[in-house]
Amino acid sequence: MMKGVYAIPLFSLWFTLARGQAQEWQQCGGIGFTGSTTCVSGSVCSVINDYYSQCVPGTASSASASATSSAPTPSGSAPASAGPLRFAGVNIAGFDFGCNTDGSCTASGAWPPLLQYYGHDGAGQMQHFVNDDGFNVFRLPVGWQFLTNDVLTGTLDEDNFQEYDTLVQTCLATGASCIIDVHNYARWNGEIIGQGGPSNDIFASLWSNIASKYADNDQIIFGVMNEPHDIPDINLWAGSVQAAVTAIRQAGATTQLILLPGNDYTSAETFISNGSAAALGNVTNPDGGFTNLIFDVHKYLDSDNSGTHDDCVTNNIDDAFGPLATYLRANGRQAFNTETGGGNTDSCATYLCQQIAFVQQNSDVFLGYVGWAAGNFDPSYVLSEVPTDTNGVWNDTSLVTACLAPK
Ligand SMILES: *[C@@H]1O[C@H](CO)[C@@H](O)[C@H](O)[C@H]1NC(C)=O
Ligand SMILES: *[C@@H]1O[C@H](CO)[C@@H](O)[C@H](O)[C@H]1NC(C)=O
Ligand SMILES: *[C@@H]1O[C@H](CO)[C@@H](O)[C@H](O)[C@H]1NC(C)=O
Repeated sequence: MMKGVYAIPLFSLWFTLARGQAQEWQQCGGIGFTGSTTCVSGSVCSVINDYYSQCVPGTASSASASATSSAPTPSGSAPASAGPLRFAGVNIAGFDFGCNTDGSCTASGAWPPLLQYYGHDGAGQMQHFVNDDGFNVFRLPVGWQFLTNDVLTGTLDEDNFQEYDTLVQTCLATGASCIIDVHNYARWNGEIIGQGGPSNDIFASLWSNIASKYADNDQIIFGVMNEPHDIPDINLWAGSVQAAVTAIRQAGATTQLILLPGNDYTSAETFISNGSAAALGNVTNPDGGFTNLIFDVHKYLDSDNSGTHDDCVTNNIDDAFGPLATYLRANGRQAFNTETGGGNTDSCATYLCQQIAFVQQNSDVFLGYVGWAAGNFDPSYVLSEVPTDTNGVWNDTSLVTACLAPK
């Protein structure tokens, strides 16, 4: 491992004074941290690891109260204090409803998260998230089958696409960036793209048609595919991703971000060990370069990384985001965590706040995070980030308030 040296930024004292006390569950210390090291009344600063101390409920006698970590020798994965994250956001789900992990979706299962289509008020949710919470990106999942009205083709069904585009335009109108996410798990009705299922040409034509609609809009981010898994040949999959990237660029979307998804539900933890990083690292722009080709990684915090439990057991730093940061830095690449989240519980507040703080400290290699999920989910959904609107006053779920909201 390489050894690095740590410099305390000159503005850290000013920053500390200017920011006042850290709120419950917020960071209050650790290597590279420049914010407040004192916690609001009713909470104390507890050392989690060298990189992270956090305000936890309690009084000085009930928790270790040191705000500074002992000075260890940072490793090659040491954070670079590279400034704020570029993106923080929320998934606005609904157009993906009816999709299963075998890539079987039905157009009729999609449920637009917009009032005019009898869904939730996705427009109001996004405006609230931007104006009140400081979010600046939304991911808008949609099933391939909805886009083509259940026909295996790359040709968009104009009526269905107009409905989806209504959500995209609503997102764009907030000023946020908007991720187009084809939510098909690398499949069409059980068969894998480029490996027995739809050909790469059909998949590329889908992306060509989508990209040509948004070629001139730099708020658009192209999410090539949601959560590939059980892919027999990762290099063949990288070839399918390459076909999509080439199609997007040739459609005129020459500069936007494109997200490259790996195997194992694009898990941040196995992105390197599963071979995804090496294979997808070969995907290039038409000019042979890698500009704005970003690894797409997901990670939940429950016991099996499934995002189905309301309690969290890990902050993913040592097993996932730490090693990934080291890899990205060594290879000159970046990643974007487009799905993460947990239940509205104290354990998830503890661990997700830690994860997000670590990602922030490594903002040179991580573009940001997108929580799962708001949109058309019922507020009782275990991972709900659906805000409630009472006469125009929006109220967030506790995990959004504690960890996800930038402000
Ligand atoms: C991808 O690139 C690596 C080198 O980084 C190379 O070893 C590997 O063979 C490449 N895979 C393909 C399918 O080109
Ligand atoms: C990648 O993960 C899958 C499970 O999703 C597993 O079957 C496969 O063996 C893994 N491949 C590597 C190279 O680790
Ligand atoms: C707002 O949501 C929180 C959970 O985040 C809840 O505890 C609180 O009661 C809600 N407030 C209102 C006014 O609904």
